Amino acid sequence: MKRDDQLKRTADCLIIAIDGPVGAGKSTAARLLAKRLGYRYIDSGAMYRALSWKALRAGLDLDDEPRLRQLADETSIVLEPAGDRELIFVDGQDVGRQIREREVEQATSRISTHPSVRAVMVAHQRQIAAQGGVVMDGRDIGTVVFPDADVKFYVTARLEIRAQRRYLEAQAAGATRKIDELAEEIQLRDTRDMSRRASPLRKADGAVTIDTSDLPVSQVVDAMEAEIRRKIAAPEGDT
Ligand code: DC
Repeated sequence: MKRDDQLKRTADCLIIAIDGPVGAGKSTAARLLAKRLGYRYIDSGAMYRALSWKALRAGLDLDDEPRLRQLADETSIVLEPAGDRELIFVDGQDVGRQIREREVEQATSRISTHPSVRAVMVAHQRQIAAQGGVVMDGRDIGTVVFPDADVKFYVTARLEIRAQRRYLEAQAAGATRKIDELAEEIQLRDTRDMSRRASPLRKADGAVTIDTSDLPVSQVVDAMEAEIRRKIAAPEGDT
């Protein structure tokens, strides 16, 4: 096979892992990057949110790990690409709107501390992405789900910028929120996500850090694409 063909084949089925804290701009960049590459975008956070939504509805104790693990085993979570966004179904019900609610958000960062719940989610994520050609974002994608991902990014931004983004998102959704309150919620989730024992959020070995604080999203995606092209063009071992 010619080297160019080989590159093309390789380039069609890469696994791109993106991790980072709340509001860093991961999902916006990941979605656009996937579109540019003709890949599928997988929002792993949405899967944890979906499970949390179901747990809250069932009135489960968020500290009852065995019961939550059982729930994870019993629950069908399906992500479906739909044009520029993704649909998410829990046991056949579209929960795309519900999983973005504040209560679900805070519950999610609690539920996702349980190792056995994570194990179910990780297995599911690996299975969805098995064929490659995916951009997956979350907190443990480059460290645990795909430690051998072809390209890894750690996306971050200053706290005030992240709070400002959340403020604008809330405004666009018709909600009025105080920036200070949003910053506090972000910090609470960051602290939980980074200090939990199971798969804490951290920069994966070999990940490239992108600080999105002062960058428009198009430049974030340009930087990612350039890094991917550099990686696939580099001879084996030359990274
Ligand atoms: O990315 P997000 O805000 O939708 O994620 C919601 C929560 O889910 C986040 O606070 C931590 C958890 N999460 C996780 O533990 N591991 C992932 N791979 C993705 C999300």
